[in-house]
Amino acid sequence: MTGRPEHQINKDETLSKDGEAVPAPRKVFVKTYGCQMNVYDSERMTDVLAREGYTATDSVDDADLVLLNTCHIREKAAEKVYSELGRIRKIKTERAREGKEMVVGVAGCVAQAEGAEISRRAPIVDLVVGPQSYHQLPDLLRKAKGGEKVVETEFDIDAKFDHLSEKVEKPKLQRAPSAFLTVQEGCDKFCTFCVVPYTRGAEVSRSVSQIIDEAERMAASGVREVTLLGQNVNAYHGDGPDGETWGLGRLLRRLAEIEGLDRLRYTTSHPRDMDDELIEAHRDLKSLMPYLHLPVQSGSDKILKAMNRKHTRDDYFRLIDRIREAAPDIALSGDFIVGFPGESDADFEDTMDLIRRVGYGSAFSFKYSQRPGTPGATMADQVPEDVKTARLAELQALVTEQQKAFNASRLGMTCDVLFEKKGRLPGQLVGKSPWLQPVQIDAPDVLIGSVQPVEIVEIGSNSLFGRLIEGHNETLSQAPDLKEVAFDA
Ligand code: SAH
Ligand code: SF4
Ligand code: F3S
Repeated sequence: MTGRPEHQINKDETLSKDGEAVPAPRKVFVKTYGCQMNVYDSERMTDVLAREGYTATDSVDDADLVLLNTCHIREKAAEKVYSELGRIRKIKTERAREGKEMVVGVAGCVAQAEGAEISRRAPIVDLVVGPQSYHQLPDLLRKAKGGEKVVETEFDIDAKFDHLSEKVEKPKLQRAPSAFLTVQEGCDKFCTFCVVPYTRGAEVSRSVSQIIDEAERMAASGVREVTLLGQNVNAYHGDGPDGETWGLGRLLRRLAEIEGLDRLRYTTSHPRDMDDELIEAHRDLKSLMPYLHLPVQSGSDKILKAMNRKHTRDDYFRLIDRIREAAPDIALSGDFIVGFPGESDADFEDTMDLIRRVGYGSAFSFKYSQRPGTPGATMADQVPEDVKTARLAELQALVTEQQKAFNASRLGMTCDVLFEKKGRLPGQLVGKSPWLQPVQIDAPDVLIGSVQPVEIVEIGSNSLFGRLIEGHNETLSQAPDLKEVAFDA
């Protein structure tokens, strides 16, 4: 026997078959709020915890560890966490009665913004961990289990990525066909409404080689589509292997060379960072999908200035023209805020006019929410709630109309679809069009993980319906054999 004698095994460990002390099996429940960066981070946290013996569960009731990965972007998002903690409190009390431990942790942007305040407001919280400290989770957990209230909100982003990408080196499982990859974090732009520069810190880009390694490992484990993530992804400026600083366009060109990565996407972009190299990548790279999320927030120059967006509506129009010239079939998407302080009826009308002129394939829109610590929160002329509500309804009606028209324009078209998973009905698969629309098709499971030409035969309210084109499924033989494998996402 090579392991330690049983009496030397601590309470987090158990004995393996050959007598080694190994971490005891434990379950972690992770709930993710907010943007895709949190989705990526939650996956990496689950990886780190897997090394400590934790398996993921989707039920809070049998979890030894609960992690809420939170979002602070609007008041509603932040408040959701406290109602969830109220629910968890009851379960934790119940488990304690049965003599079972439950550690409760809050991660993400609320953790970063509120720190120790969280466990003061919700005493069941044992651990508060900000987005740049996830690699320290095992240590922090040990402290929390020792009865300490742990708060870790330091910024040390390089260390985070160095440690978090380790695990992906040995992919045991086949991964889902579409995956996120964070290439840039943080933001230096300080728009006056936004908490991100405070919760995620200054802009940091990962190195090109680190990203290529991770993308290659993803491709090798079945990923066909990678979406590069960053709060300001098109401000990416990472160290290249040639000693130069690479922008996003150059990075995309390099990623396009990776065998098996059929599709590339990136989000979220800022209009000021759309440079020529990136626009040219849209013109030249077949695998770069014709979809661009390019938030403008407002169509009024006065409001854009007050928001500190550092561009005018005209700059945005000219940019859209250049992008459409390079990639005529591109679908545009955006974010809009209604009711920013000082927004008059005429300013709002400018936003509606901008939307009409640009024509979006889809868009996200929000009522302005006053966020503590941001300049907007204390600006004069806050807009009354009922005005915000009315403007949001009007804007959303316009955007819905545009989205329907865009979807309808795909009828009868033939396009490539990446088959991602089974649909709700037997024999049905769900995939994605190049323009990020969900497409439902009757097709065999073996096509999951492949890209096939599909004719769009019907337009639904949220998705398109397609038909496989006979005789054109030559990639069928290349599709990975998925009968034996489990998906981890
Ligand atoms: N980096 C991106 C935005 C990230 S935040 C950009 O610069 O466009 C995602 C979206 O949330 C924003 O585009 C904005 O529309 C919305 N948002 C951010 N702060 C908000 C606030 N205080 N109130 C309402 N919506 C907000
Ligand atoms: Fe927030 Fe502006 Fe940075 Fe986007 S660019 S994350 S809106 S501060
Ligand atoms: Fe929310 Fe943080 Fe993302 S505030 S939107 S989870 S960066």
